[in-house]
Amino acid sequence: MEQLLQQIESYKQEISAFEASTADAVENFRIKWLGTKGLVKAIMGEMKNVPNDRKKEFGQILNEFKLFVETKFITLSENSSQLTTNDSELIDWSLPGDPVALGTRHPLSIVRNQIVSIFKRLGFAVAEGPEIEDDWHNFGAMNLPENHPARDMQDTFYINQDPAWLLRTHTSSVQARVMEKQKPPIRVICPGRVYRNETISARAHCFFHQVEGLYIDENVSFADLKQTLYFFVQEMFGKDTKVRFRPSYFPFTEPSAEMDISCLICGGDGCNVCKHTGWVEILGSGMVHPKVLENFGIDSNKYTGFAFGMGVERICQLKYRVNDLRLYSQNDVRFLKQFTGAL
Ligand code: PHE
Repeated sequence: MEQLLQQIESYKQEISAFEASTADAVENFRIKWLGTKGLVKAIMGEMKNVPNDRKKEFGQILNEFKLFVETKFITLSENSSQLTTNDSELIDWSLPGDPVALGTRHPLSIVRNQIVSIFKRLGFAVAEGPEIEDDWHNFGAMNLPENHPARDMQDTFYINQDPAWLLRTHTSSVQARVMEKQKPPIRVICPGRVYRNETISARAHCFFHQVEGLYIDENVSFADLKQTLYFFVQEMFGKDTKVRFRPSYFPFTEPSAEMDISCLICGGDGCNVCKHTGWVEILGSGMVHPKVLENFGIDSNKYTGFAFGMGVERICQLKYRVNDLRLYSQNDVRFLKQFTGAL
């Protein structure tokens, strides 16, 4: 029996001295000592040779030994999470990680987000609607008469299978859907993609993006329209930007006005972006036509409203000096990579 005690003692010394520098070494330790054919199991087997009067004493000693080995194994495995399977591949945890390639936002998304965030600060909510629309929401409700040229096949994409449906030509269709569901006061902006049957060139595309706005309440005046859009221009283009309104015509607003800003490229001196006038048009606007209000059961004697609509591409062109509309949809990373760090 003394031999068995000595054996355990020498095992303990061996185990105490053992250190593992790789995960493999920890696993080998487990197999050697705690595996099904391991030394702990073997030495436990010695119990059958222990005389009955010493069984209790040895039972305790052997259990303690087993616990000793298990504790050592736990310590080794905890440390082994920092080890590799191979000594030569020890990881240097202080090294920087592999870089993750980050994309950038599309310039149109950047500019749309900026527009949206300015109007949100004025209390406008964002509304969205379908790109495939029916005639009523896109044209009829907006007071565009049957024979209006915009309804022409040459301007509008109709759905072949059912020409009662079309690709929306402006996001005014979303305003229609808002007025249909909501009672005044209404204060929404409608960002989205719109489609027009244009020949694709540097200056025209068959789809582009708009942000339109609608504000309906009691006592909304043209002064409110001007002040809102003036605020927008100052926030978007800077305090020095000048604005001017020119009378215009839209079937869904009366009176209507187009808004120009002083040319950002030449500062008003005249260049080819502003066609040497010093001004560039950025949006259409006006007081919502009473007929449009009545189309949605809104009492036009009680309520008035203004609406406006702008092209995101145009704003983006002025902010980033993009001179060819086609660049926006060509997915050329050399172009897209240039717009970093914004919203
Ligand atoms: N819907 C017009 C367009 O697409 C823009 C607009 C909106 C003009 C609201 C006036 C008022 O051109």
